[in-house]
Amino acid sequence: MDSPTSKPFFLSSMLRMSKDHRSAGLRWSLPLSGISLVGHGSFLGLLNSCFVFPITSLFPTDAAADVLLEVSTHLEQRTRKGGKRGLHVGALIRVLHKLWWTPIRIQYQMGSQGIKGPSYRFFFGNTKEIFNMKKEAMSRPLGLSHDILSKAQPHIHSWVNKYGKNYLQWHGPQPQMVITEPELIKEILNNRDSTYPKEEVKEYVKKIFGDGLVTSEGEKWAKMRKLANYAFHGESLKNMIPAMITSVEVMLERWKHHEGKEIEVFEEFRLLTSEAISRTAFGSSYLEGKNIFQMMMKLALITSRNTYTLRFPGISKVYKTSDEIESEQLEKGIYNSILEIIKKREEKIMTGEVGSFGGDFLQLLVKAHQDANPSQKISVQDLVDECKTFYFAGQETTNSLLAWTVFLLAIHTDWQEEARKEVLNLFGHQSPNPDGITKLKTMSMIINESLRLYPPLIAISRKVEREVRLGKLTIPAEVLLFIPNIAPHHDPQIWGEDVNLFKPERFSEGVAKATKNNMPVFLPFGMGPRNCVGFNFATTEAKITLSMILQRYAFTLSPAYVHSPFQLLTLRPQHGVQVLLHSL
Ligand code: HEM
Repeated sequence: MDSPTSKPFFLSSMLRMSKDHRSAGLRWSLPLSGISLVGHGSFLGLLNSCFVFPITSLFPTDAAADVLLEVSTHLEQRTRKGGKRGLHVGALIRVLHKLWWTPIRIQYQMGSQGIKGPSYRFFFGNTKEIFNMKKEAMSRPLGLSHDILSKAQPHIHSWVNKYGKNYLQWHGPQPQMVITEPELIKEILNNRDSTYPKEEVKEYVKKIFGDGLVTSEGEKWAKMRKLANYAFHGESLKNMIPAMITSVEVMLERWKHHEGKEIEVFEEFRLLTSEAISRTAFGSSYLEGKNIFQMMMKLALITSRNTYTLRFPGISKVYKTSDEIESEQLEKGIYNSILEIIKKREEKIMTGEVGSFGGDFLQLLVKAHQDANPSQKISVQDLVDECKTFYFAGQETTNSLLAWTVFLLAIHTDWQEEARKEVLNLFGHQSPNPDGITKLKTMSMIINESLRLYPPLIAISRKVEREVRLGKLTIPAEVLLFIPNIAPHHDPQIWGEDVNLFKPERFSEGVAKATKNNMPVFLPFGMGPRNCVGFNFATTEAKITLSMILQRYAFTLSPAYVHSPFQLLTLRPQHGVQVLLHSL
């Protein structure tokens, strides 16, 4: 990293420059995301002058930054008194403070603690490099290798090797500290005093999750988490098993038309997981929630293609891209459709068709909405946000887990045979039962190894609101902490030289033994207070589905399959997973 070294501060020259440029009174234009911002004053001139100074000649201290901000505030105050030029220069200094000064200061601060990384580039950070590296990685054939880190996260693969286990990268002017060191991961994720809250999600992601459980904080989160814990664990989860079995039966009915032929299972599991979450959490079928899922999927696509798009702050209020317009329409459509489902349920409660106590997740939410106690009551918007969160989180992730596990078993037919033996021993040809499900040891090992090699969620993030001490490091406010859990999953120092081989026997004595009690190296469901609330739901659904498939079919990988794991919010097979089905 180009770490700035200690040299005299240049604020006076900067102020001189801004004075010169005020008098120059030229027009400037800044093309951003295809939009030109036009204004008075010599913006480019000032920018150029600033960057003529080599970055290493700066001494970016907090005190200097404060002076810069004070100057801009002073100029803006003058504006209110009628000084128009002051507005331009004041606003300009604020922009420079955000897009240039702060990144350079943070880069310096982290560099002085030994945290290196690719250099910050004005406005874009490293987004262009990351985008290009991903594009290049996607064009490279992978064979059937499980060495997928360099494919799914090529920048992290390359920069961890170059800069170390923890390094600094830039999403535009947003600093992201990438952390793969287990001790630090544990410290962040186990924290319970809100030192590391969730990051504020970008507009598109917000449209998917709203302010639901995945994104909310504080009291609201605690209230909703309690509700979800109750709905997706213990007896409630046990009561969901018959609905899960019915969902798998619906899928296997379709499979009868594919016997002896090829079938694409990623799409099959998309329908299955949509059906399962609809039935278990919302008491409806996939068909009822179909358009919600379709709209959610479109939103996910838009979100994914805008991951590396940078927008000038506030520009969306003036000009909206077609993606922004479409995502707003989708958000409204999802809201209205969910409202319909809620209304129907309220009617059923009123007419006594369903009881007002117990029941599924939707029932608990509706009850909380109707609660007379204001501290327990949730608003309609909260209700909708929670439904959106669970429709999405409950479906996409398990969809990926099932597809990757079937892919692995289609290649490793010896493990497929082992798993089948276990299933037939426990259930024969009967439907899976709660007691047997807890005894599926080989299946658990296979699922864990699948989650290690192909974790559906490949990264977890948090932010730092106030300067904080993390391990031996001092992390400045506003730094985003980015934990790419897929990296330790593929680290040979942790798992051995055979790290990229499918070896479920690693987990034969449980996760603690497999990780040598170093739990943060295996994080498919996260850890600490914000770990996955649907963990038991997902593994139960996966075990039931795989058991019922193994009872009926043997499967091998189709020659049509092209191995290309890629991230579209979750890690998924880009071209689906085609297998050949053989009836037993
Ligand atoms: C294989 C399937 C799944 C995987 C790999 C997975 C992974 C994760 C991970 C890594 C987190 C932690 C995120 C963080 O710390 O920021 C998480 C949180 C969450 N998951 Fe899952 N998940 C899965 C299935 C599910 C299911 C089926 C549901 C719903 C029924 C669900 C609902 C949630 C929710 C609501 C949160 C947020 C919890 C909170 O912040 O309190 N997940 N999941």
